[in-house]
Amino acid sequence: MVVVVSLCFVVFSLAGALKVSIPKPEYEFARGDNITLPCDFLPNGKPPSVIIIWTVDLGGPNDPGTMILTHYSYSGETDVPPLYEGRASLALDIAKGKADLKLSSITLQDNKVFSCRVQIPRDDEGTLADSARLVVLVAPSKPVCALQGKAEYGQNVNLTCLSAEGSPTPVYSWEQRDVRNTPRLRDPRTTDRGGILSLYNLSMDTSGYFTCTSKNKIRSAACNITLTVLPPSLSLGSSAGIIGGGIALLLVLALIVLICCCCKKRKQREAEKYAMATPEEGAFADKEPIGTGKRRDSRDEEEERSEYDRRVVNDDRRVVNDDRRVDDDRRSDHTARRSDYDDRRSDFDDRRSDYDDRRSEYSDRRDDRDDRRRDDRRRDDYRNESDRYDEPYDDAEPARPKPPSVPNNKPPRDTY
Ligand SMILES: *[C@@H]1O[C@H](CO)[C@@H](O)[C@H](O)[C@H]1NC(C)=O
Ligand SMILES: *[C@@H]1O[C@H](CO)[C@@H](O)[C@H](O)[C@H]1NC(C)=O
Ligand SMILES: *[C@@H]1O[C@H](CO)[C@@H](O)[C@H](O)[C@H]1NC(C)=O
Ligand SMILES: *[C@@H]1O[C@H](CO)[C@@H](O)[C@H](O)[C@H]1NC(C)=O
Repeated sequence: MVVVVSLCFVVFSLAGALKVSIPKPEYEFARGDNITLPCDFLPNGKPPSVIIIWTVDLGGPNDPGTMILTHYSYSGETDVPPLYEGRASLALDIAKGKADLKLSSITLQDNKVFSCRVQIPRDDEGTLADSARLVVLVAPSKPVCALQGKAEYGQNVNLTCLSAEGSPTPVYSWEQRDVRNTPRLRDPRTTDRGGILSLYNLSMDTSGYFTCTSKNKIRSAACNITLTVLPPSLSLGSSAGIIGGGIALLLVLALIVLICCCCKKRKQREAEKYAMATPEEGAFADKEPIGTGKRRDSRDEEEERSEYDRRVVNDDRRVVNDDRRVDDDRRSDHTARRSDYDDRRSDFDDRRSDYDDRRSEYSDRRDDRDDRRRDDRRRDDYRNESDRYDEPYDDAEPARPKPPSVPNNKPPRDTY
């Protein structure tokens, strides 16, 4: 009974005084949040008018504070200085005694002490103001996971994890999963201090997935790192293997080049042997292109020519002209196939000569046929020398000695 009476007395005695309060001494919000700082006031009766003032200061005794806003209830105006214009507003309900401050997009600069003051005419006793500290928190930024040291058998490495931001300072924790992605208990040799996970005496079993979580009271973020422990010799071994392979490749290439050179030289030697074995006319010798087939052909043509020389002069000229034409063509195109065509063309030329022969002399078809057969043989020889085995016909022809000791184009004509 005494307690109730005394309580009633206290309530009665305070009823005539203004009481302003901010419920908590400290408020925590994340950076970027839109916040409301509550301020309650209990007036003495229904106030005719009220002035609400929110200020902010660093909490030191000498800081006069900065005005955030001032509200005058009699005119309904709220005055916000430029520094807080657009960010600060008042949630006012005079009947319920509420004068909350709304602040949007708070930053680390808002880490200060906020004060709420209520002025009511003729009600200037009691608690006229209260204040609270705003703690602006920063979520941990996504941490960066990194490896320090060489991930080789027997080595020690550090896995580091660091968030660039975070207020309060984040705490870090590591989790491990093996290569089959199943959670793994912490190896007793590892240590985890301040975001650094130290792994000692690495082995193949240390390989796996490591996740670091950076966490403070408002949020957490994580990063992953994959650790692959290799034998120390592998990096050296693989580079040695690459070098060895390169050297082997070079050797093979050198061998191929060498073989090619040898073949070419042998062919050239052969060709020179043929060329020297045959008497050559200066004009033709000078025009000779390099190549066995050419030399042999020109020799044949020479012999043709000397043979013709003994015969009709007109025909001779003609044949020489034809031969020259053939020679020119060969010089301009050195492919074997082309030479083959030229061969055939020279065959036609021969045939043309034959017709001329027929016209001027008694040469007949048998002769011509002989010529053609010999031409075929000549072509066959040519093929043998230039290593061409791709023509299916002429199989029946017997292999002929190289070079043929007898001119094979027009010898039968000598018999006439
Ligand atoms: C805060 O309010 C601003 C408008 O004042 C709005 O654009 C923003 O999205 C709000 N932020 C949050 C976290 O609610
Ligand atoms: C790992 O970190 C510890 C200290 O945290 C340091 O003494 C050690 O040298 C580091 N090891 C490597 C491989 O960086
Ligand atoms: C490292 O581990 C191997 C087996 O993985 C063990 O034989 C060796 O004694 C260890 N070395 C140290 C210094 O612990
Ligand atoms: C880490 O890896 C796990 C699975 O391997 C995945 O679920 C998670 O999202 C990853 N975390 C990050 C931050 O990349």
